[in-house]
Amino acid sequence: MNGRTALVTGATGGLGKAIATAVAREGASVVVVGRSAARAEDAIRDIRAKEPNAVLEPLVCDLSSQASIRSAVDGFLLRHDKLDVLVNAAGVFRKERHVTPDGLELTFATNVMGYFLLTNLLLDALKRGGGADGARTSRIVNIASKYSGGPSTTKIDFDDLQTAKGNYSYLRATPPTMLGRVLLTQEFAERLRGSNVVVNAVHPGLVKHTALLQDVGGPFRWMTNTFGATAEKAADTPVWLATAPETAAVSGKLWAKRKELPTPGMGSDPAARKRLWEECTRLSKIL
Ligand SMILES: NC(=O)c1ccc[n+]([C@@H]2O[C@H](COP(=O)([O-])OP(=O)(O)OC[C@H]3O[C@@H](n4cnc5c(N)ncnc54)[C@H](OP(=O)(O)O)[C@@H]3O)[C@@H](O)[C@H]2O)c1
Repeated sequence: MNGRTALVTGATGGLGKAIATAVAREGASVVVVGRSAARAEDAIRDIRAKEPNAVLEPLVCDLSSQASIRSAVDGFLLRHDKLDVLVNAAGVFRKERHVTPDGLELTFATNVMGYFLLTNLLLDALKRGGGADGARTSRIVNIASKYSGGPSTTKIDFDDLQTAKGNYSYLRATPPTMLGRVLLTQEFAERLRGSNVVVNAVHPGLVKHTALLQDVGGPFRWMTNTFGATAEKAADTPVWLATAPETAAVSGKLWAKRKELPTPGMGSDPAARKRLWEECTRLSKIL
């Protein structure tokens, strides 16, 4: 990975920081995205304590804010003309409903719109990455989750993307955003077919002792901390997809433990991913 640049969101905590650390160990220079300069600098200090030779730089971006994403990408492009790896690992799980300055529900804004807008704005840089001879691919890795439970894990309610109807609950708001990440992965893969950019999603399983569930607590948090894998272990598949020669040509798939997973529910419906793409395009006024 020497000479390659990776940008990792969520790199200030749990899984994202473990991924950033492992990618830096592989020799890539890593752009550590944090929602504040202090958070990014703290993460850089922690990563450097483990990897003293790591080449790291901070990038401040609040992924729930479209203005912040645009400004962060502008800042990145002032310093870099290409990007080889983008790992979207930032995410939230919130007990209460919050609305962002863009007028979007916070979980959807961060977990779906953040991925959509950041990735779209970095696509040209990714196309310039991956190796000048075109022999290598640039990689996008989206942390998501598999969905196999009740309706909210296998369906997106396009009439209530902002979880505004009825009572808000994190169990209603969050699972559709994980499915949304898989649908966006599939749609990006289709749109990038024939280019030098591949994109895949990862189900990391339960990841213990991260900050993700600190807001919700309770039995779900207990279960995750008891049965989950460490962030370092959960980072294995995302890092493999981001760096390994054998994953250079795979795209549009959902993975866990280096194996492809089926995508039930709306994950097998091309109309659903097109609809989500259209909604994200409309809400970000991007295209
Ligand atoms: N833990 C699990 O069991 C599990 C299971 C399935 C999927 N996942 C997914 O794995 C990913 C990593 O989660 P984790 O468990 O490692 O949780 P975590 O420790 O809470 O990490 C989440 C990261 O996202 C960042 N983030 C959140 N909102 C942001 C915003 N508006 N702008 C910029 N950064 C923001 C956080 O930054 P701060 O440090 O500033 O808060 C943190 O770095 C998430 O996408 C999550 O949905 C986790």
